[in-house]
Amino acid sequence: MAQFDTVIRNGTLATASDVFAADLGITGGKIVAIGASLAAGKTEIDARGKLVLPGGVDGHCHFDQPTSDGTVMADDFYTGSRSAAWGGTTTVIPFAIQFKGQSLRDAVADYHRRANGKSFIDYAFHLIVSDPTEQLIGQDLPALIRDGYTSFKIYMTYDDMKLNDRQVLDLLTVARRDGAMAMIHAENADFISWLTDKLLAEGHTEPRYHAASRPMAVEREATHRAITMAELADVPILIVHVSGREAVEQIHWAQGRGMKIYAETCPQYMVLTEHDLHAPGFEGAKCICSPPPRDKANQAAIWDGLASGVFQIVSSDHAPFRYADPKGKMVRGDKTPFNWVPNGIPGVETRLPILFSEGVKKGRISLQRFVELSATNPAKMYGLYPRKGTLAIGADADIVVYDPERKVKITNSLLHHNVDYTPYEGLEVTGWPETVLSRGEVLVDRGHFMASEGRGQFLPCDLPDMAKPKAAA
Ligand code: URP
Ligand code: ZN
Ligand code: ZN
Repeated sequence: MAQFDTVIRNGTLATASDVFAADLGITGGKIVAIGASLAAGKTEIDARGKLVLPGGVDGHCHFDQPTSDGTVMADDFYTGSRSAAWGGTTTVIPFAIQFKGQSLRDAVADYHRRANGKSFIDYAFHLIVSDPTEQLIGQDLPALIRDGYTSFKIYMTYDDMKLNDRQVLDLLTVARRDGAMAMIHAENADFISWLTDKLLAEGHTEPRYHAASRPMAVEREATHRAITMAELADVPILIVHVSGREAVEQIHWAQGRGMKIYAETCPQYMVLTEHDLHAPGFEGAKCICSPPPRDKANQAAIWDGLASGVFQIVSSDHAPFRYADPKGKMVRGDKTPFNWVPNGIPGVETRLPILFSEGVKKGRISLQRFVELSATNPAKMYGLYPRKGTLAIGADADIVVYDPERKVKITNSLLHHNVDYTPYEGLEVTGWPETVLSRGEVLVDRGHFMASEGRGQFLPCDLPDMAKPKAAA
């Protein structure tokens, strides 16, 4: 008689600390055994020659996020979570955005309506605070943190979301007092608007000028200022989507002073460069994101930071705007000036394959570090560990059986998002998810999708240990 619901047999298991041969037993959606020669399962998955990894946790992606400029995100929780699952990600954390004048509670309620009954995989919410009123600071945000929304993003740029330094300090004070993780988009808004006006006045409207409007110095300055504000408020922060050397240097400097400054980067800063924005015609818009991709030397600095430990997490920053679409990149036609092109690029499905291929296969990071960056640390960063992000007894059986040798040329027709392009078109990778399980249910198996819509559950998050100030940790 079968002892387990499912046994994944003969695989090589990898966690953030170890790589070892073992079978893995699942019952009731949880991992219940890890060992040699486990008894039979009702379902048996043969993982010989394959890696058995914790399902990816994408700690930064945007699904069905309302915008204020007439653009529309092409992926909702249905298509976004489907694409994530195909790519080996079993938990996503998109953003409930507050518009100015809106209550944060209403923003969260609206986002639940958008997610309810649609997701194939489990999900939590970050908050985006754009209007830190007294009511929000004193009541709404602390109450939401208590309810399991334990991380929020602060923007230092974008007209409809940016906060001034005093507002940022007020929010960091809440993060410190109530134990939340503050994520910071670090670019200097005034520098960008000054450079943008200058470029437009000179007639430079093409996509390539997006990069010229947000050079590294813009990010470096804001990164340093964010670090200084974290020092004043005495609280850990996470700098999101770090793009290159000068920001890495600031973070490394702060970490060297003993500060808890965490950093996230994304595949776009590992494999794209500013040159991709120079593609003919309007094509460069496909790679418009902020901060912009830099150059090869900056890519190398990102890899150094991934290998050395400056970075804790790799997220996709999946921001799904269609290309040939008046609600997407071409919001003002195929000559949309760069400053009107919606920022962000898709990548929720390609995050693990790019990090694995460019990182592990090319010898830049170890397999354990891959697991740590893509699953374990995001779960820890946002209060989902050890339920998510690891292979351990009692953890949710969110698992990827990964074929480390399969060669794939990435092309958009292969992907399952609702975007009409991928910025990684033609990129050859080695390694691809083969079978993906969420709470023990097979979602994807060798090219077949078997998940049911709406099976994904909302995850209230614990207060993350990583958000504890140094003295309290
Ligand atoms: O360009 C980007 N990164 N767009 C998505 C929104 C954000 O700032 O993360
Ligand atoms: Zn951002
Ligand atoms: Zn983002």
